[in-house]
Amino acid sequence: MEALRERLAASGQEHLLAFWNDLSPTDQKEFVADLSSIDFSEALSHFEHACANMKEMQTKKDDRLKPFPEEQIASVARSSPKELDNWRESGLKEIGAGHVAVLLLAGGQGTRLGVDYPKGMYDVGLPSGKTLYQLQAERILKLEQLAGNRGKVPWYIMTSEHTQGKTIEFFEKHGYFGLDPKNVVFFEQAMLPCMDFNGKVILAEKGKVARAPNGNGGLYKALKTHKILEDMKMRGVTCMHVYCVDNILVKMADPVFVGYCTERKADCGAKVVQKAFPTEAVGVVCICDDKFQVVEYSEITLETAQKRSLDGRLVFHAGNICNHFFTVDFVMSVVEKHEKDLQHHVAKKKIPHVDEKGMVVKPTQPNGVKIEKFVFDVFEFAKNFQLLEVLREDEFSPLKNGPGAEKDTPESARQSLMNLHYRYMLAAGGSFRDESGQTLPLIPLRRSNSQSSFLIECEISPLVSYSGEGLEDLVKDKYFKSPCHLNGSVEKENGESKPKRKRLSSK
Ligand code: UTP
Repeated sequence: MEALRERLAASGQEHLLAFWNDLSPTDQKEFVADLSSIDFSEALSHFEHACANMKEMQTKKDDRLKPFPEEQIASVARSSPKELDNWRESGLKEIGAGHVAVLLLAGGQGTRLGVDYPKGMYDVGLPSGKTLYQLQAERILKLEQLAGNRGKVPWYIMTSEHTQGKTIEFFEKHGYFGLDPKNVVFFEQAMLPCMDFNGKVILAEKGKVARAPNGNGGLYKALKTHKILEDMKMRGVTCMHVYCVDNILVKMADPVFVGYCTERKADCGAKVVQKAFPTEAVGVVCICDDKFQVVEYSEITLETAQKRSLDGRLVFHAGNICNHFFTVDFVMSVVEKHEKDLQHHVAKKKIPHVDEKGMVVKPTQPNGVKIEKFVFDVFEFAKNFQLLEVLREDEFSPLKNGPGAEKDTPESARQSLMNLHYRYMLAAGGSFRDESGQTLPLIPLRRSNSQSSFLIECEISPLVSYSGEGLEDLVKDKYFKSPCHLNGSVEKENGESKPKRKRLSSK
């Protein structure tokens, strides 16, 4: 006890023992184990670095910034169909050869969404009732089929203490949604103690330290701890697509993106969207101090945010949407050489804690910080970094907040997906009519709160189409009514999963 007390005192953390005498001998034993697993001087040094970094972020970076080099960006909207086809073909070849893995960042606590289970298990209310995890699993199944190499796109899922158990249980309960369990690899990221604004570690309970996952940039440490890159190499994987769990439109291992990055011999790539307006709260990929970085809106002045080039586009326009391409060799070099130097960021959060009487309190205002690393902080180490600008309405609609919030809600995610699928149906030659036989407008509305609005309910199973391909046979010159659900299922063939197309549920 004395040794522990001294160790805590040396880093100003002796308050952690305030309720020691209230704990049972078993709880005391567990608490000692909990405390012994924390390197307090390291945690304090992370805290100090993160605070210094936060101060640095408050000084505007305008003079240090340069836009991302145009020759290293391509745009899906401005590329010819031939170029897109070439990238798609070469991406499919890479996928078919088993060179591509997908890696999901699913360790976040999803506090803004406010559910007590992992975000991937959330059902946004699609006609099918599919969760984010299921949509993603089925996109992999379909992709494997398109690439002619079923069962060969390994899915690495980074979880945390908060999400690991429930996620694995969910996959098991649903038979891995038709995927081969051998190709789904879960690994857990590390946790860091949460601190108050003075660097004091917070007690979550009388005998338990408050901890939070170490940010999505905790990926690199976790890859090393769990030898994931070695596993990739063993499977013949040479590159990966890394993405966030909450983007309902995510095109996993999008062949166009994979083909674009491999054709351009990129070691690191990112999908971006045009920033919608100068003050939009989105990080932009650009050059800062001669390094590739993601710079937040709060780090630049309004004047710089509003700057436009001669063609009318914002100079700092490349909005980061957490869709990254990395070669395995690139990530290996990050893990070996740079992981320790990646910046720590602080996020102010409401952290449940015990009060002076030992009662657990859920604060209504931020009372402390989580210390996090960011997945994109490795851009600066890329030797050949390429961006692909994609259309926001086709590829990015994150689920961040609970129902009824202003943006990034279950409603907005559901409607973005159904609007996209409606466009797929129209592009394939189908059309929609209402009860009276009137053709429905081509542009559906996003919100249902206006009297005159109409919302199209149209869902296409990923098992039927990955990104709008292959629909003509089913929809060309046919009329549909909303709600319309183009369904698909997974069939077992010689013990292997095979996506099978089913007919429409509305016609
Ligand atoms: P967010 O920054 O949106 O955080 O994560 P979050 O935890 O999902 O939600 P809030 O902020 O608590 O409301 C972006 C992506 O990074 C992952 C998340 O799971 C999500 O896919 N992430 C975040 C991790 O994998 N680990 C972390 O420590 C943090």
